[in-house]
Amino acid sequence: MEKNKIKLDYNNMMADVIGEKGFTDEDFKAVADRVDFAVSYFNQKQGTGFMGWTKLHYEQDAVVEDIIKTAEQVRAKFKNFVVLGIGGSALGPISVFQALCHLHHNEVTQTRRKGAPKFYVEDNVDPERMNALLTTIKLKETCFNVITKSGSTSETMTQYLVIKDALEKAGLNPQDHIITTTSANSGNLIKIAKADGYKTFYIPDGVGGRFSELCPVGLLPAAVLGIDIKAMLDGAKYMYEACVNADNANNMALTAATLQYIAINKGHNISVMLPYADGLKYIADWYCQLWGESLGKNQYMDGTPCNVGQTPVKALGVTDQHSQIQLYTEGPFDKVITFIAVDKYRKKVTIPQGCEEFPNVNFLCGHTMNELITAERKATEYAVTKAGKLNHTIYLPVLNEFTLGQLMMMFELKTAYCGFMLNIDPFNQPGVEEGKNATYALLGRPGYEEKAKELKAGTKKFKKYMM
Ligand code: PA5
Repeated sequence: MEKNKIKLDYNNMMADVIGEKGFTDEDFKAVADRVDFAVSYFNQKQGTGFMGWTKLHYEQDAVVEDIIKTAEQVRAKFKNFVVLGIGGSALGPISVFQALCHLHHNEVTQTRRKGAPKFYVEDNVDPERMNALLTTIKLKETCFNVITKSGSTSETMTQYLVIKDALEKAGLNPQDHIITTTSANSGNLIKIAKADGYKTFYIPDGVGGRFSELCPVGLLPAAVLGIDIKAMLDGAKYMYEACVNADNANNMALTAATLQYIAINKGHNISVMLPYADGLKYIADWYCQLWGESLGKNQYMDGTPCNVGQTPVKALGVTDQHSQIQLYTEGPFDKVITFIAVDKYRKKVTIPQGCEEFPNVNFLCGHTMNELITAERKATEYAVTKAGKLNHTIYLPVLNEFTLGQLMMMFELKTAYCGFMLNIDPFNQPGVEEGKNATYALLGRPGYEEKAKELKAGTKKFKKYMM
């Protein structure tokens, strides 16, 4: 397993490598108390309250078998699989799909897709997009997975209502086409699922949306796609044990969290996630939700007001070298760049010969695209390091289920540790709930009359500020 372990190189965060903006031993000593607190709080709370996600790789044997069986039935029966969900109920499935399936999955034949159906994740309520879906797929060939932890999110419930109605109007039985994934004990979807008889998977208590990829939220879509979900869970377990059983200096997630915590304290308020692989493009999106929603808070654990967090930014190597890197290299010292490198890409493309008369192009010939993307990553790392900008690199030996499971668990652990160092609750999202409640009020949900009045009073607009 050691050879498949992901690695972290944080040389370029250190003063003796990048100069004055880098960190010193003194910086680590200054936060040692917060680091110790984060570790002991984590150890004390793991597996309890909203830290149920720390046990997913130990406690799902029966549900994993059910997921695999259900996925086989879906694969045998349907040509399309559509996830209806938003936020944590969508970003995990999207990013795992992108990482482990053919990059043009829906355009290649089912044989090339290894028997998997076409895959769609509908994570918005833009009517044009819903129309596009309904005019693209055939309902009778489609399985819909409605995913919502709370069972009441307006976007997902709206999508559900539209799809159920469309199925009925097409003379189809929704029971044959809908699988729900939701909380067993709360929300409306579970009540609807029971009343309408949908096959249902449960989101365990203590697993918040953005920490839910390794429960049925992510595992069912992944299994339908033919992804080895046991290997993903093995990767998560491997990383989890490698971190929580290590001393602080050898705990990769803790080290990554500590580096960001020091950076935040020094005013580096932006975390750029920059993978050099199209397969990891949406892992950057998933990370942005995890990091942003978990750490952006306005009160400390004891309720004292604050405004903390670090703004996550997604980018893609090499594409964003031609868009963002100018800013990262020469702009303000307010960012930490996390490169993700892949040692061995799953495919090799050789750049052909045939341009001998143009030496300034010909130098590329005979190399591989693998060499080119790696050289560009190293060159960009060199450029930002030379400019004294904080950066570090996570190395994946290869992108597969096992390494992806490790990466996701490492980011989840890092987020929890950093939240505890910041002394905030990384598992709630009152700012998101506020917006959800305001939507309910605007659309007249019973019980939200007071909120509707509050909104009406608070939405005064002046003509003079409109053009
Ligand atoms: O991380 C979270 O908890 C949120 O981003 C949720 O995932 C998102 O709001 C969707 O919620 P739900 O799964 O309850 O529909």
